[in-house]
Amino acid sequence: MDFALNEEQQALQKLAREFTAKEITPVAAHWDERGEVPMELIKKMHETGLMNIQIPEKYGGGGLGYLESCLVGEELAYGCTGISTTPMAHSLAITPILLAGTEEQKQKMLKPICEEFGLAAFCLTEPGAGSDAGAVATTARLDGDHYVINGTKCFITNGSLARLYTVFASEDRTKGLKGLSAFLVPAGPGVKAGKEEKKLGQRASNTTEVVFDDVRIPRANLIGKSGEGFKIAMMTLDNARAACAAAATGLSRRALDEAVRYSNERVQFGQPISAQQAIQFILADMAMKVETSRLMYLQAAWMTDQKMKQTVQSAMAKCLCADTAMDVSTMAIQVFGGYGYMKDYPVEKLMRDAKLMQIYEGTNQIQRVVIGRGLTAAASRSKG
Ligand code: CAA
Repeated sequence: MDFALNEEQQALQKLAREFTAKEITPVAAHWDERGEVPMELIKKMHETGLMNIQIPEKYGGGGLGYLESCLVGEELAYGCTGISTTPMAHSLAITPILLAGTEEQKQKMLKPICEEFGLAAFCLTEPGAGSDAGAVATTARLDGDHYVINGTKCFITNGSLARLYTVFASEDRTKGLKGLSAFLVPAGPGVKAGKEEKKLGQRASNTTEVVFDDVRIPRANLIGKSGEGFKIAMMTLDNARAACAAAATGLSRRALDEAVRYSNERVQFGQPISAQQAIQFILADMAMKVETSRLMYLQAAWMTDQKMKQTVQSAMAKCLCADTAMDVSTMAIQVFGGYGYMKDYPVEKLMRDAKLMQIYEGTNQIQRVVIGRGLTAAASRSKG
């Protein structure tokens, strides 16, 4: 067993760390306040080679694994999870193509995204299909050599910025989740971003409704087979949840670093507060949680790269890292005391940003459902 990153991974981590320090951290509060995506910065991220890392080189990507993608994700999130959510959600949206797309779809859809620049959006969630992802009401009707898509998605990250949408829609609502299929829908006539959400945190990301109004796409844009949409969505989330866990780890590490720095500077009772055991205990707890988070996301990402079934480990990583981010960012505010609650200091933003991590990519209650079902299914298999 080897806990060390190889040279290539270390170099990529360093590149992402330096990019974050120079390009993201200094502007994070500004874009949070404005509630806008800094598109020039996202393009720069792409030009620097910090996006599309897990896409094979023959389609213009980085040709590396989910583990490398997660390492970069932790670094970018250290600067701002509002900003890092744009590439993270993009990566989520291209995963169905990587998992179940044809060679032609990969050439046609992934290459332009990698070689030029473009964002993708994952369109699963609807007003009536949140945790119950199988309740999707958007429809896909076959009409000759085309599908016609109709419906409204909500809470879609990159909703008004994407040039490509991966859309989950029902071909036959009587079949429930077995009627769902996955489709590639390029931005174009009939695809319209609706209301843009104003959020508590991660405000530098774009979250909108997306409306599909009689959108005609070629039959060749079906991903996988008819009726496989739910399975593709679940497998996509199994892959992507490690990235969410990595981002949460980046946020937690930032909270710890800010708390350590402040506790060394802030003097009370004639000495830095870091000399007080009460503060040292908080910092120690924070540090243990950050380290545990990293191990969890690395394991889930590694299992994905090894093509192992990782449903339970991904859910555990996502759940633990997101809960940790909430916990550790709250502890950072406590170390800062009254100053931590004020916008002049960086830690209140961390807490606002962390909250979303317990909600998106499947709530942490859903992660516990997935973990619980995995445990009981394994127990009944070993009995039988
Ligand atoms: N891999 C492969 N297949 C799977 C699977 C997995 N991980 N999980 C389930 N399936 C299959 C099952 O085997 C079953 O197939 P069979 O009938 O052939 O056996 C079928 O799918 C149905 O499975 P369930 O009975 O478990 O389905 P369910 O209705 O009980 O739902 C759920 C399961 C886990 C609750 C699921 O609905 C879920 O994950 N919900 C959360 C949705 C979610 O994460 N949304 C996030 C949106 S993306 C986002 O937030 C991104 C962003 O903006 C940044």
